[in-house]
Amino acid sequence: MNRKTATEAYALKVSKKQGEKAIRLASRLGLLDKHLGIIKEGDFLFIPLVQKPIPRQAEEFRKSLVDSKTVVQKFTVRTHQPKTALDLAVKSLPSHLVPLFPRSLDLIGEIAVVEVPSELNNYRNLVGEIILKTHKNVRTVLAKSGAVKGVRRLRQYEVIAGQHKTGTVHKEHGCKFFLDIEKVYFSPRLSYEHLRVASQAKEKETVVDMFAGVGPFSILMAKMHKDIKIYAVDVNPDAVRFLEKNVIVNGVLGKVVPILGDIRKVVKERLRGTADRVIMNLPETAIEYVDIASEALKPEGGVLHYYEFTKGPDTLDSAKKHLAEALNEAGRKVHEFSAARIVREVAPFEWQVVLDAIVK
Ligand SMILES: C[S@@+](CC[C@H](N)C(=O)[O-])C[C@H]1O[C@@H](n2cnc3c(N)ncnc32)[C@H](O)[C@@H]1O
Repeated sequence: MNRKTATEAYALKVSKKQGEKAIRLASRLGLLDKHLGIIKEGDFLFIPLVQKPIPRQAEEFRKSLVDSKTVVQKFTVRTHQPKTALDLAVKSLPSHLVPLFPRSLDLIGEIAVVEVPSELNNYRNLVGEIILKTHKNVRTVLAKSGAVKGVRRLRQYEVIAGQHKTGTVHKEHGCKFFLDIEKVYFSPRLSYEHLRVASQAKEKETVVDMFAGVGPFSILMAKMHKDIKIYAVDVNPDAVRFLEKNVIVNGVLGKVVPILGDIRKVVKERLRGTADRVIMNLPETAIEYVDIASEALKPEGGVLHYYEFTKGPDTLDSAKKHLAEALNEAGRKVHEFSAARIVREVAPFEWQVVLDAIVK
């Protein structure tokens, strides 16, 4: 039976918003009391401390956490199992390593993908087990080992906990995507983009998804529109194999036409001048394909959804400049940028951006 006992201890009082940052900082300073449970009260958290912070530590709290205060607080001694991954990390990792515990992970079907910092190398499996324990639907935890590379945009992974598998079924916006993340590109971080772009299409349009992968733009778009034709092209045979399966399981056969091949060849051979809308989701090198996207568009023009990785302060303006110049060279013109947004930060001071361009 669990017995609860109360005790008084020093606590750091912070707003809930700053909770995670405060726990990491208290842990880094060796002040976090792991035997007492954190208390939530209104918009505040009381984080138990092993002792009153010395002036240097108090100064760190003041600098990093707005309106934080050290108070004396009544706590219940922990008798229950810790619930969150961070709770477990606090319990099982050496204190100085807790702040390095991965803050975010990508959930792809039953697989969790994390970036484990090199300082935690000896604890990789422990990190994996913590994630497995705290995420009910996860069966496998993979650590990224290396960057996304090559034409097919793949990276390598290491299984650090759970079942040894890289294949799964991911659900997004009511669609099912069969995929194997070692063989095909997929990012759940683009979920909002998939929806944003798919919802812009109009009935009776012809769309070319130039770098379709397993179909997250094409299939959702087809599900959202009754009368639409989407040519979904990819050069990776594994991606097209999954795409074909996904077209069937999502009931969009005939609306989405999977095509295996290099987009340059495919457009020249069968899609020239057909598209009302072109999706260009290959941010590393999309600029090199603006000429072929222009060729795919109908002579009177259409909409381009153009993704780019951009560095520096004027990200959106510089992406607009690149695209406008490339379109001019291809004999087209930007009539209007109907949208321009930062999709995500991909490295310090480097962003993935998207431009929706109405092209004439
Ligand atoms: C960044 S992934 C995007 C996949 C998909 N749009 C998504 O959101 O998951 C880019 C895809 O483009 C494909 N690709 C790269 N170069 C290509 C080319 N020249 N022709 C056709 N597909 C290409 C890769 O195989 C990869 O699947």
